[in-house]
Amino acid sequence: MLRKRLEMVSKMVRKGVSVVDIGTDHAYLPIYLVENGICARAVAADVVPGPLRNAQKNIALHHLEDKIQTRLSDGLDGLAPEDGDDFIFAGMGGTLIVELLERTEWIRDPAKRFIIQPMTHGEDVRRFLCSNGFEILREDVCEDSGRLYIALCAEYTGRVTEHPASFYYTGKLTECLKGEARLYLSRQTERLSTAIDALEKSGGSDPELRKAVDQMKESSFYC
Ligand SMILES: C[S@@+](CC[C@H](N)C(=O)[O-])C[C@H]1O[C@@H](n2cnc3c(N)ncnc32)[C@H](O)[C@@H]1O
Repeated sequence: MLRKRLEMVSKMVRKGVSVVDIGTDHAYLPIYLVENGICARAVAADVVPGPLRNAQKNIALHHLEDKIQTRLSDGLDGLAPEDGDDFIFAGMGGTLIVELLERTEWIRDPAKRFIIQPMTHGEDVRRFLCSNGFEILREDVCEDSGRLYIALCAEYTGRVTEHPASFYYTGKLTECLKGEARLYLSRQTERLSTAIDALEKSGGSDPELRKAVDQMKESSFYC
């Protein structure tokens, strides 16, 4: 049984593809995807040997050594395009995920999908994707043990897109009808509003953030 956060991520993986899980730690996600017939094969990758050993132990417990490879890799550095179709980055900060993506040229391939579940700074991820020719196809949110988590999936189209300032903080969650999405967007608006008010009170400014917060407060999700 996967926790809700990883279950949400698993639902974005295309059926029948091979998957790479970057920052896999325990390898719960690739194990679930292969055991449930969603993926035929997977690579579980991590930059730290300890978590990778956890992954190897769990893969062996499930007798999936022939279907799930492990790889010591810093982001995508130790991986090649032919290692997978869908690439997952879950449970890491958005700023780190962007750093890992931006140094890999071969991610610009329309056949690949990137499934990203940032713990923080989702706005950095959306900004990177939109300004580098990726389309955000779908976003989702879930509540797990009292915390709200977001996930998105994207693919390369080559079209650079510009959006209102608020989009980078809300993404396509504004199109999501779930109560959790409304709650996430309201909380996000409150949090950012408090941050920009404090910044301006202390003499600082961030015109883009101010614009984003004003747009978010005018949206129907905010009451
Ligand atoms: C909090 S765990 C997330 C585990 C799992 N993906 C999940 O969502 O439950 C973060 C994992 O990312 C790994 N990690 C951190 N930086 C990394 C990098 N540059 N490349 C690959 N893995 C990294 C850490 O070693 C750790 O195992």
